[in-house]
Amino acid sequence: MLVCPTTRSKILRFLPEGGEVAEIGVANGDFSQEILTHASPRKLHLIDPWERQERSDYANDPSNVSTHQQDDRYNAVLARFSKEITGGTISVHREYSKNAAAAFADGQLDWIYIDGMHTVEAAYDDLVTYAPKIRAEGFIIGHDYTNHVQARDWNFGVVEAVNRFVLERGYEFVALTIEGFPTYVLTRNKDSARQMTEFLIRNVPYVVEVRDFPQKHQFEHKALTGKQGTLVYPSF
Ligand SMILES: C[S@@+](CC[C@H](N)C(=O)[O-])C[C@H]1O[C@@H](n2cnc3c(N)ncnc32)[C@H](O)[C@@H]1O
Repeated sequence: MLVCPTTRSKILRFLPEGGEVAEIGVANGDFSQEILTHASPRKLHLIDPWERQERSDYANDPSNVSTHQQDDRYNAVLARFSKEITGGTISVHREYSKNAAAAFADGQLDWIYIDGMHTVEAAYDDLVTYAPKIRAEGFIIGHDYTNHVQARDWNFGVVEAVNRFVLERGYEFVALTIEGFPTYVLTRNKDSARQMTEFLIRNVPYVVEVRDFPQKHQFEHKALTGKQGTLVYPSF
């Protein structure tokens, strides 16, 4: 696995262009816009219920906004991408990810970006549910691979979910960005892993390899707090 001093937006440039792709968890469509700009998909599926959820394990997550705000976000996404929706490049699925999965055939998607509910169970369910929908050479990418203090307060369990999924299903953990809220890249295809690794080494300065991850290493997103504020950094 390569630890990459880069951002999730830049990672999009290393993915195959012109694919059929999906984003789980859309909110205002900010990252959907980045996907359109940097990965030029021929088809982008946006999946989000845009619904306030009354459940204790999601109560602290700042994405769980009020019903009124969810409606505003949904309408803003429809307006923001009206040209792409009319032209057929974007399909909007106002549904929970589990329900939306039925719309996709096995192997239909080239890659997916998972950024929906971040509890361990929900993040793991998204991985397991959508893995068969990605073609064999494709990629699973996702946000918020972090267990720093803030993330734990919001009940994020993406680190546990991704590690469990990778170990159980034999996926390769290809890359992790170094950010406050890191993005992970997975694939089950050895050639795709090798190609992506080579792209990253050639194009991202100062990558660091962590061998046998997550089999042999624990990831901790540590926080350093001082007069100048709080900084997070990855520790293995
Ligand atoms: C962190 S936000 C997404 C941010 C967006 N990906 C971005 O980077 O701009 C998480 C979103 O996931 C949505 N969400 C929550 N549970 C979901 C589920 N079960 N299926 C799909 N989306 C879900 C929320 O409504 C919220 O809009």
